[in-house]
Amino acid sequence: MPESKRTRIGLIGCGFYAQNHLHAWSDLKTEGADLVAVCDLDGAKAEAAAKQFGAKAYSDARAMFTAEQIDLVDITTQMNSHKALAALAAEHKVGAIVQKPFAPTWADCIDIVETAKRHGTWLAVHENFRFATGMRRVRAVIDSGAIGQPNWARLGFRTGYDVFKGQPYLAEEKRLVILDVGIHVLDLARYFLGEVKHLTCETQKRLPHVKGEDTATVMMRHNSGAVSIVESTYAARKIPDAFPETLLEIEGTEGSIVVGRGDKMQVTTQGIFFEENIGSPLLSWTSRPWHNSQEAVLHTNRHMLNRFRAGDAADTSGEDNLKTYALVEAAYEAAASGQSVKPPQWIAKS
Ligand SMILES: NC(=O)c1ccc[n+]([C@@H]2O[C@H](COP(=O)([O-])OP(=O)(O)OC[C@H]3O[C@@H](n4cnc5c(N)ncnc54)[C@H](O)[C@@H]3O)[C@@H](O)[C@H]2O)c1
Repeated sequence: MPESKRTRIGLIGCGFYAQNHLHAWSDLKTEGADLVAVCDLDGAKAEAAAKQFGAKAYSDARAMFTAEQIDLVDITTQMNSHKALAALAAEHKVGAIVQKPFAPTWADCIDIVETAKRHGTWLAVHENFRFATGMRRVRAVIDSGAIGQPNWARLGFRTGYDVFKGQPYLAEEKRLVILDVGIHVLDLARYFLGEVKHLTCETQKRLPHVKGEDTATVMMRHNSGAVSIVESTYAARKIPDAFPETLLEIEGTEGSIVVGRGDKMQVTTQGIFFEENIGSPLLSWTSRPWHNSQEAVLHTNRHMLNRFRAGDAADTSGEDNLKTYALVEAAYEAAASGQSVKPPQWIAKS
């Protein structure tokens, strides 16, 4: 690919989950992505990533934007820093991919979207669950018409896996499971069943060492009339544990899809049954039990790269992701009030 057509990538935040992004960008080199710079406030982390992946290291994002010609920046820091870093990218006319959760508050998410709009820069949220091989396959079955019109679903991420070991900051979050992982499952519910009219939610704190809710049960009415239940917990005690699989059942007018443990998809279509393994293959840098999530990072980054180059919005653009974040907001409000809540809407200024 000629140099002029290649895309120069920068990455900010070389922590725990960023390792997957770094490997994914490295795999995408053959498709025209050049990871040119990495940045972390912790200089040693930036140096280590730079050495392993052949990029230049920075410990200050502004210095990186000033010194490098970056086309697209991948922001893989925790949510508190997303607004400032996305604004810096927009100011430098650089496209940005922001890890989920978009930001700690609805107002900050809107601010990030409006800032990119004002600067005319490309913006997407790294919502990777819907890009996983298995979830794409489920969507393909729905799109094929095999189950008819989907009208009921249950989607669950229920685990007792010690997520706090790799991400100790989670134990301190006042908004925990819905914002951390429920957000992915809510996004899947949108992906499979469309937008949501209203929802109710019950939360629980079952783990003694965490500040926020570790369990949430959300019930939603979609605009299509379908009803879904979205469950997320870090407090399940089960052997075998399903981490980090999303288990689901989707029922439709002509059949159903059940995804159970071990990436097994069972489909009933007009009285006929078939079964398929929908797990991701292991890549040189992925390992169980994270492999589905890790491979989804590769698919997400590839999608972002191609859409950015084409000048088209990503499926999970900033604006699209506001609709997922709106479900998070509505779920917390519903849990606090005990009422059914309509998700907030963002209306573009122009
Ligand atoms: N999609 C998924 O499945 C998934 C899984 C895990 C984590 N995540 C998300 O990934 C994000 C990062 O989580 P993590 O666990 O890797 O966090 P982490 O704390 O391990 O890594 C974040 C890194 O960013 C650096 N950093 C913070 N502010 C910075 C700044 N202004 N400039 C440069 N570097 C800065 C920190 O020094 C740290 O090394 C979170 O938003 C989290 O929710 C997503």
